[in-house]
Amino acid sequence: MTTPSLLILPGDGIGPEVMAEVRKIIDWMGAKRGLDFDVSEDLVGGAAYDKHGTPLHDDTMAKAQEVDAVLLGAVGGPKYDVLDFSVKPERGLLRLRKEMDLYANLRPAQCFDALSDFSSLKQEVVAGLDIMIIRELTSGVYFGEPRGIHKEGNERVGINTQRYTESEIARVARSAFEMARKRGNKVCSMEKANVMESGILWRDVVQEIHDAEYPDVELSHMYADAGAMQLTRWPKQFDVIVTDNLFGDLLSDLAAMLTGSLGMLPSASLGAPMANGRPKALYEPVHGSAPDIAGQGKANPIACILSFAMALRYSFDLGDEATRVERAVEQVLADGLRTADLMGPEGGVPVSTSGMGDAIVAALDASL
Ligand code: NAI
Ligand code: MG
Repeated sequence: MTTPSLLILPGDGIGPEVMAEVRKIIDWMGAKRGLDFDVSEDLVGGAAYDKHGTPLHDDTMAKAQEVDAVLLGAVGGPKYDVLDFSVKPERGLLRLRKEMDLYANLRPAQCFDALSDFSSLKQEVVAGLDIMIIRELTSGVYFGEPRGIHKEGNERVGINTQRYTESEIARVARSAFEMARKRGNKVCSMEKANVMESGILWRDVVQEIHDAEYPDVELSHMYADAGAMQLTRWPKQFDVIVTDNLFGDLLSDLAAMLTGSLGMLPSASLGAPMANGRPKALYEPVHGSAPDIAGQGKANPIACILSFAMALRYSFDLGDEATRVERAVEQVLADGLRTADLMGPEGGVPVSTSGMGDAIVAALDASL
């Protein structure tokens, strides 16, 4: 078996700070679990612009295409606001997503017991919550043609087009069914088949892929507006939700906030299976480079650490080790450790970025 490869792109602002804590987890996996990763590190975003004059060097792009998984910190910062649009830090991230053709965006909403009082919903509604929203990321109304603003008579008309091909729906549906098999074996597909033809096609294709290839997975369909209601009423009824780009944008933000702080939220973007059967994959925290707290040791590294846990589960078939990392996070939170962003009315034991990383490593040690 070849050593699994991982490309680390810390990026800007708090990106390098939270990634340093992920490195501790990776080192721990090697030292204590005998799990070695072929880790390489490179620049992205403003850091790459400073060195190469571009937010993503071609060599880095090529490397990203070869590895089993990419782990990215965050990009951007006020220093780069003056740059031309074509070389802005965000363009580096967008290029990665586009050229790797990462069509399935995974946003888990997982509630850690110790933080259930952080949610705006009742504790009983969110305690123990663990769902996964899969948003189609490369097509739909954000990309469909025709689009634009033009004049009709004496008024302006704004146009965007929701467009999905059968193959675009089929591939993201497969991502959802594959994911469900690694979790609770249940998929709910959301669209608006009652009012949109693209929604009718979406529902038909998801059902067809299910019947032909994944009959063992439980499938249901829901209108996306009803889905939004159900997500806030009783989110624990769901396991995997698959939906289009627009509805997914809204529903994943809604679901994420069921569980609390931006500093806790991981994500993954997956593409087509590679020769080794693993999907192309980019893992990253949902948060940005947080320039307001960068360089102060205040950043919460958990979102990035949980993104690495997702890589363990979805790129490296190490679900048990992913669970081990998640349990370690749960443990330090239960012990009351809090970075500044997690400090609620209940208080807690204040820790720095590296203090949180060290505590998670200690909890991993205790898990052996
Ligand atoms: P942001 O996510 O960087 O920060 C929003 C707020 O949340 C800030 O108050 C920040 O201090 C806090 N925060 C974020 N992550 C945290 C963490 N891990 N621990 C503790 N507190 C945390 O979003 P913002 O301020 O809108 O954007 C800042 C820069 O990041 C901009 O240049 C933006 O373009 C870029 N950005 C990059 C993203 C990416 O790399 N994927 C995503 C979002 C924004
Ligand atoms: Mg959004």
